Amino acid sequence: MKTVFSGVQPTNKLTIGNYLGAMKNWVDYHKDYRAIFSVVDLHSLTSKISPEERKRNSFEIVTLYIALGLDPAKNIIYYQSDVKEHSELAWILNCYAYMGELSRMTQFKDKSTGQENVNLGLFAYPVLMASDILLYQTNIVPVGEDQTQHLELTRDIAIRFNNLYGDIFQIPEKLTPKLTARIKGLQNPEKKMSKSSEEPNDSVFILDSPELITKKIKRAVTDSEGSVYYDVEKKPGVSNLLTIYAGVTKKTIEEATKDFEGANYGTFKKIVCEALIEDLSPIQKEFEKLIKDEAYIKEVLIKNSEKASAIAKETIYKVKEAVGLPVR
Ligand code: TRP
Repeated sequence: MKTVFSGVQPTNKLTIGNYLGAMKNWVDYHKDYRAIFSVVDLHSLTSKISPEERKRNSFEIVTLYIALGLDPAKNIIYYQSDVKEHSELAWILNCYAYMGELSRMTQFKDKSTGQENVNLGLFAYPVLMASDILLYQTNIVPVGEDQTQHLELTRDIAIRFNNLYGDIFQIPEKLTPKLTARIKGLQNPEKKMSKSSEEPNDSVFILDSPELITKKIKRAVTDSEGSVYYDVEKKPGVSNLLTIYAGVTKKTIEEATKDFEGANYGTFKKIVCEALIEDLSPIQKEFEKLIKDEAYIKEVLIKNSEKASAIAKETIYKVKEAVGLPVR
């Protein structure tokens, strides 16, 4: 069985961009793949967030995964830091990654330019990500467009390592769902909807109340034309709302556009809003129920990290043996 792996950093609350661009598609993977979803808490150490926030976000994300419909008996849901092999492989692969290629990573450039907190971890971040992926002999990695370069690097490192030592790593492929991959900010529809946007009305979070969602959608930037159709260049705001609508209703953009023939922006926004709230509300209800059962979530985490460790150990064994480190 092939493996699918993805990770989310617990640096903030999850947005509908995370949900529609990624997680909504995750629930079915286990039917065809060994499905592994990690809360990459070690990655989050590269950002300045408080320990309490890190802890809280991590726990919420796992709970949200389950609330979204990821069955923890069929999907391996765990904390990255619970599986020591991530750090171990990251160190080894650091020695096979070049300063030059890491310097070219646009995410590093974006996060480091003009910043005070340019730590070594931020620079090595993509190697830790490569380790996450390669540790489980991953075949496919569902991630957003912004992770393309990191995935390319992962492949380069894996190929380089295999060329030196034989068939150690599976070479992973990226998978980006077509339509819903890129949800943009409501206030800045030219840019990706971000978990950490400074503008409070730019992102809708999965756990936002219906009132808050309504307020944010009402304020979403559109244009002065007044008719609803899809054109990212000319109408980024309207196109983004159409994409959100298509995502939650599982319609194509064409079908979605048809639903708004002759509608004005007020009506359009109202319907988008209702569809979004309807889609999120069962998830939110389930979340509220689950989050109270801390013991259950903890047990899921322990069981699943054991499953993950068992796979990770096999890869680490091969890697250590290949480079001449002791194995027992
Ligand atoms: N860098 C990814 C992001 O910011 C998160 C991530 C870490 C990841 N390790 C991963 C995603 C492995 C996929 C696979 O979105």
